[in-house]
Amino acid sequence: MAARAQNFVCQSCGAAFVRWAGRCEACGAWNTLVEEGAAAPARGVRKGRPFIIEPLRGRTLEAPRLASGIAEFDRVTGGGLVRGSVLLLGGDPGIGKSTLLLEVAAAYARHEQRAVYISGEEAVAQVRLRAERLGLSDAAVELAAETSVEDIITTLSQARAPQLLVIDSIQTMWTQTIDAAPGTVTQVRGSAGELIRFAKRSGAVVILVGHVTKDGQIAGPRVVEHMVDAVLSFEGEGSQQFRILRAIKNRFGPTDEIGVFEMTGMGLREVANPSELFLSERELGSAGTAVFAGIEGTRPLLVEIQALVAPTSLGTPRRAVVGWDPSRLSMVLAVLEAHCGVRLSGHDVYLNVAGGLRIAEPAADVAAAAALVSSLVHAPLPGDAVYFGEVSLSGAVRPVAQTAARLKEAQKLGFTKAIVPEAARTEAPAGFALSTIDTLANLVVDIARDGTPPLKRVGRQDA
Ligand code: TYD
Ligand code: MG
Repeated sequence: MAARAQNFVCQSCGAAFVRWAGRCEACGAWNTLVEEGAAAPARGVRKGRPFIIEPLRGRTLEAPRLASGIAEFDRVTGGGLVRGSVLLLGGDPGIGKSTLLLEVAAAYARHEQRAVYISGEEAVAQVRLRAERLGLSDAAVELAAETSVEDIITTLSQARAPQLLVIDSIQTMWTQTIDAAPGTVTQVRGSAGELIRFAKRSGAVVILVGHVTKDGQIAGPRVVEHMVDAVLSFEGEGSQQFRILRAIKNRFGPTDEIGVFEMTGMGLREVANPSELFLSERELGSAGTAVFAGIEGTRPLLVEIQALVAPTSLGTPRRAVVGWDPSRLSMVLAVLEAHCGVRLSGHDVYLNVAGGLRIAEPAADVAAAAALVSSLVHAPLPGDAVYFGEVSLSGAVRPVAQTAARLKEAQKLGFTKAIVPEAARTEAPAGFALSTIDTLANLVVDIARDGTPPLKRVGRQDA
């Protein structure tokens, strides 16, 4: 009996099944199986052809890179785009993906590179309007509104291959080789496959725009992430003007660098010193905020950590965190309870990293703890101090990497004090006051000395 084709494909994880079902067995998502046509069978089977097998040892030149000249973009890609590589740029609708890529295409065109921008979502006139707004109308970017992958590749193969091809977006593309509607997993995968082959064959850099679904996945879906060389994500808070470009995966560069932009009326502006931006709206003198001296990639970055600790009216108090790892928060709370005598089980706890930034470093433990305690005892922390250090489960404060860079950035921005792990003592720049702590309990004592325990204050008012 011939094997039955697996035509029901989960639109969330890409798993294929013989039969329809309400729930995908692979990822557990409901109502995601859609019947899709199978890929067209190969026409005539070709005999295998021998190829050359090479030793691992050998001379290979460093992959040639093309820098765009947009420093924040080049930083995230690892110094520029590598010939023949394929990138996927994900992000929420309206975050500025098309704007960023139009600016990148114009930057390449300015360097005498052939840059082609294909929009499957907007008409040529709309893209032109945007270019006008960005002041790029005279850039030598080639434009088209197209959705057929075969037509795009045929057209581009007629002349000198472009150095950069932008496809906005991969979900609107379709290839004839696959009998399924545009936007389905099979089509997205098939179209991406064709474009990737084109990139490898022609040496063009291809950037695919990918929409992000509500739950944060690049729709259409994870399969494309595995196929491409780099996955970039463009993020930001809807209400705020700055945008963060970060690499989630990069075969040719680092994945911990971020690029910071500001969306203005005339497009995206690079932010060369993000610390200034992230600290610009700081409310000095209010309890519950601490400045964390962090490192993103190779660059030091100062951000404000805000905490609110308030008596709860619920049986199970709330723990909400934005921009930091919730399990890290739970750990810091547990250490405060177990080793520092801070009772938080009757309090709701909210923690927020200002500016929509996401921090992954354990070095933020001390800053988060300081903000939490400061909020609990209503004691504002000194406005000219930064905090960093990792907290261990025993309550000890452990040293972190790149202390000198963190302190230098803090000094540059006008801070004069740092509350840091013991080991950082030797690394203070001249004129900078260090206060070292070996346990989290020490920090709590220092903060609480200036604070009024909330219950005591209420008591006094009653008397
Ligand atoms: P866009 O690049 O179309 O987003 P995406 O491709 O990710 O969907 O950006 C759309 C938003 O950016 C829109 O809300 C308007 C805003 N914007 C500006 O504020 N300034 C500008 O110069 C441009 C071009 C857009
Ligand atoms: Mg767009």
